[in-house]
Parts: sequence; C-alpha cells; structure tokens
Amino acid sequence: MLRLGERMTDNIFDGFLSRKTLFKNKEILRHDYQPQSLPHRKTEIETLSFNLVEALKGHIPSNMTLYGVTGAGKTAVTSFVCDELEKKGQELKRPVQSIMVNCRQIDTQYRVLSHIGNSLLESHEIDEIPFTGWPTDRVFGELIKRMDSRKGVFVIVLDEIDHLVRKAGDDLLYNLTSLNASLNHARACVIGISNDLKFTDFLDPRVRSRLGQLDVIFNPYDAEQLQDILRQRSNLSLNEDVLGDGVIALCAALAAQEHGDARCALDLLRVSAEKAEQSGSPMVEQHHVRSAQHQIESDQMTPIISKLPSQQKLVLSSILINEKNGLRNIQTGEVYAIYTQACRYVGQNALTQRRVSGLISSLDMLGLITARTISRGRYGRTKEINSCIPQNIDPVMIMVESEPHIEDVFSSNYKHQSRL
Ligand SMILES: Nc1ncnc2c1ncn2[C@@H]1O[C@H](COP(=O)(O)OP(=O)(O)OP(=O)(O)O)[C@@H](O)[C@H]1O
Ligand SMILES: [Mg+2]
Repeated sequence: MLRLGERMTDNIFDGFLSRKTLFKNKEILRHDYQPQSLPHRKTEIETLSFNLVEALKGHIPSNMTLYGVTGAGKTAVTSFVCDELEKKGQELKRPVQSIMVNCRQIDTQYRVLSHIGNSLLESHEIDEIPFTGWPTDRVFGELIKRMDSRKGVFVIVLDEIDHLVRKAGDDLLYNLTSLNASLNHARACVIGISNDLKFTDFLDPRVRSRLGQLDVIFNPYDAEQLQDILRQRSNLSLNEDVLGDGVIALCAALAAQEHGDARCALDLLRVSAEKAEQSGSPMVEQHHVRSAQHQIESDQMTPIISKLPSQQKLVLSSILINEKNGLRNIQTGEVYAIYTQACRYVGQNALTQRRVSGLISSLDMLGLITARTISRGRYGRTKEINSCIPQNIDPVMIMVESEPHIEDVFSSNYKHQSRL
C-alpha cells in the first residue's frame, strides 16, 4: 500500500523476478517427479515386466517383494512399470489396474483396505468406504465385490511395507495374498516394497512364502551411475551450460559416499542450483554444492537433535562436555560421571549406567555419535564414543532452544575423571 507522500519504490520481488533463472523446469529435479527413463535399472524393469506381462494374458502374476536401500529407485521403477502396464492393458482392451499404497502414510490394515476399495470407485460413484467404523470383514467384502464387478487383474503395490508390518502385524498381507480364493471374476497380485531386508523375519511363514514368490534386489547406485541419473535429470531441468566443471561428479560422489541414494544426489543438485541462483551466479559451481551439502545436513540433523527426549539430551551433552575438555574416544564411565553431575544441576533423577549405555547406543543409531564397543580383557567391555555432528551445526544451541534448562548444563563446572 502506498502512503501519501511516499515515492513509489521497487517491489522487493522485482530483483528476483528480473534475475536470469538457471532452471528450465525445477519440478523435474524434485523426487516425486516420475522420469520417463530410468538409467541403470534395465534388469529390474525387465524382471518386473516379465512377471507382470502375465496380467495382460489374463493370468495371475507372481507376488513380489522388492528390496533395496533408500533412494535405489524401487518406487520409481515400480510406478513406471505399472504405468506402462496399464497403458498396454488399455491398448489391448485387457483390464489391468495397479493401486499403489504408501504404507508409511496409510498405516493400518483398515485404512489400506478402504484406500484400495475407494480407489476402485468410478468418478461418478459416491459410495465411499468410511475412514473408520466398519468391521474389517465388511471392508474386505466390499473390496472383493468391487474387484469382481470391475473384473480384470489388479496389481496391489504396498510401498514401504515394513512400516505397516512393524506397526500392525501381517494380517493385512495374509488377507491380501489370499484374495484370489475369494475373487470370482477378477485376479490380484501383491508387490511389497521394503528397504529393510530383514522385514520378512516378522512375517508368519505362510505369508512369507506367499509374498516372496519372487524377490527383486535393487543394489545401491555407484558414483558413475548416479552421474548418469543426474545428467539425464539436469538436461531436462536446468538451462544449458549452467553447470560448472565437476559439479555433477561432486554431487554423485557425495551421494555415493552416503549409500548410493539417488534422492540424495538429486536434492544436492537442486539445492546447489538454488544457491547459485540466489547468489546471482550465472553458473552452479562446486562451492555451491558444498554449501548445499551443509544446508541439507543441517536441515536433517536439527530436528533430530531438538526432538531428543530430555534424558537423551543430557547424555549427548555429557559427551560434548567431555569433548570440550579435550577427550576423544570417551568411555561409558566418563560419560556417566558427567551425566550424573549434569542431572544434579538440572534437578533430574539420574538413570542407571546400564540405561545410559542404552541411550548412547540410540544416539549412535541416530548418527549423532559413533560408539564402538571394545573389550578390555578382564576389565570387561566398554565403548569408545565420539560425536560426529557436522561442524556447521551447533548442537548446544539447538538443544537450548528446545529446552532452555540445558543451558545450565553447559554453564556449570564439572569434576572430570582422571585417566590412568
Ligand atoms: N535410475 C534412475 N533414473 C532416474 N531417476 C532415478 C533413478 N533411480 C531413482 N531415481 C530418482 O531418485 C529418487 C528416489 O528414488 P525412489 O523414490 O524410487 O527410491 P526408493 O528406492 O523408493 O527409496 P525409498 O526406499 O526411500 O522409498 C526419485 O526421485 C527417483 O525418480
Ligand atoms: Mg520408495
């Protein structure tokens, strides 16, 4: 709003709008974008389609389980193959429908069944299965009825299935893998996707053998493969000649160091290009990649640290205080000695050393510290603990922001154990 007597000035957005953008289409670098070709996944695509082609012949494909680390292309490959399958089905007038359910978001048996049931409704039908309220049997019966009335083959994809099994057990899998016994005019197969190789350990042996008719392993990408993936996506999403020397190679190398995660590589490239654009640079350079990496690390780690339960924060603080005192390879006893004093300063009851040792292991699993168990012969075992929080992140500030009394922990004096 312009006030009287005020001169019309530039809008704060003008500068950004007139700036030359590096992106042709930023959406293509996001991870929910479905690429039309997937380099280095030819074998996996072939295995899936060789099995699913049965649906086009009116037969039942085998149930499958797909495994692989996060970002290995499991979801991308499956939805690509399912899209192609549906297209071919329409062309051949063979009704085939795939239904993808993300079990991280839809995580109870009831909700999965009602989601599948509701995705079988035509747009003019309004008979939605309610989100809660019906007995499971009734939802299941409705599902069978709808499948039978639509006919054809249904491919049910349960993505991130390990979440559901851990939370709700394997009843759903048992029911879904026995659908064919109840169906008269339709057929169904189930594809489970997991990044936990061991998730089938939780399953009833009958479910395990039904679901595991065909296992497909997605190996992590190496740096060269990640480069191909990045090059293909960047050609579509970035303007020509905006990538400086070695930028793709650096993004790929950093992501390969993690565990060959294509999602992580794509994020790095996108954030690097955003950083370059924000600083008005006409090119993305390697230093933009480094600063993107810092930002991503900090965006991921900050909520992990701030959401730690109070006792975990005290244990992490005790490790950091030991390090501030110059120690490396800190032992459990040394952490515990500081921890008990810290508890006193903030008026909390101290847990036993055994419990604290458990909390140290969970900090290790969260990637905030490394704790190596070593044997000290007849003195038993201990841990060698070091923090591994990246330098650009200030864990003390993050903890204090979420729990102000942690400040007292760091402003107090401690009696340190002396090392022999
Ligand atoms: N071969 C590939 N070519 C092009 N893009 C790929 C390829 N593999 C993976 N991607 C992209 O990387 C991102 C992550 O892949 P995807 O979501 O399929 O991983 P995922 O194996 O399902 O991981 P998670 O276990 O975490 O769900 C997506 O944006 C996907 O498009
Ligand atoms: Mg996935």
